[in-house]
Amino acid sequence: VRVVVLYGGDSSEREVSLRTGRGIMNALRAKGYEVIGIDFRPTRECLAQLVQLQADVVYIALHGRYGEDGRLQGLLDLLGIPYVGSGVLASALAMDKVRSKTLARQAGIRVAPDRVIRREELDRVTPEELVRELGLPLVIKPNREGSTVGLTVAQREEEVRPGLEQAARYDDTILVESFVPGVEVTVGVLGDETPVALPVIEIVPRKNFYYDYESKYTPGGSEHIIPARIAPEAERKVREWAVAAYRLLDCQNYARVDFIVPKDGGDPVLLEVNTLPGMTETSLFPDAARAYGLSYPDMVDRLIQLALR
Ligand code: DAL
Ligand code: MG
Repeated sequence: VRVVVLYGGDSSEREVSLRTGRGIMNALRAKGYEVIGIDFRPTRECLAQLVQLQADVVYIALHGRYGEDGRLQGLLDLLGIPYVGSGVLASALAMDKVRSKTLARQAGIRVAPDRVIRREELDRVTPEELVRELGLPLVIKPNREGSTVGLTVAQREEEVRPGLEQAARYDDTILVESFVPGVEVTVGVLGDETPVALPVIEIVPRKNFYYDYESKYTPGGSEHIIPARIAPEAERKVREWAVAAYRLLDCQNYARVDFIVPKDGGDPVLLEVNTLPGMTETSLFPDAARAYGLSYPDMVDRLIQLALR
């Protein structure tokens, strides 16, 4: 079986993607697959190369724009090449936090209170009104980014305006949310007809008080605690809602769903669904798969098998 691995790309998460790609290619080779990697940018050359290579299956190891948001998935659909992971709809929805939150809210899954601001409205929105409406701290994020790129946690009103401006550099839609104090956990989901929730991971960032870019990708930057030290009721709920969100967005093969379990003991709060979870050496999904009994190469093998069905 010839697997073409697309990695790198030109999104803000390029560095992460290079590491995901390396991990995936090593695992595929160890499993005896024929592997061809492409540093894939949305260019004519890369598209031509992809068509020529006659892949049996593609592993998309890209994160962020073009690779994770459904556009590349649509292209592969047109070419008739199977690929690992979600299709066009789930990819596009999961990448769009505003729209996936709207669906989750309607389905009864708890999400943080928020305010959506378009770039052209920015001048008319005051930090004071956002703080009045949503309290402090505020989490300010570009709508369609990953890895906390462009994200600010504003602890004081003075930090709100710079946070909005920073987020606006990445997207024309900005999501402002109430910060929910609690424990960040994540749930890997694997499979199609009967997707299973993998063991819940608790994330403990070492330096910052939230799981920022540095704590995500510096070795030792965070601790992954499995099983998460949360109440049994919270654990049951995050597993149930992870699978519910996966089905709601129509995800395929695998995804990783992030939550905050609030300090006050209330229901977990869904942060987002990741249809192309990081697979670097410090990443969460591979750790969850290991706790479930799948080594990294076995996990990658399972994903290829799911894609080829
Ligand atoms: N966006 C990064 C890669 C993740 O969710 O793991
Ligand atoms: Mg993400």
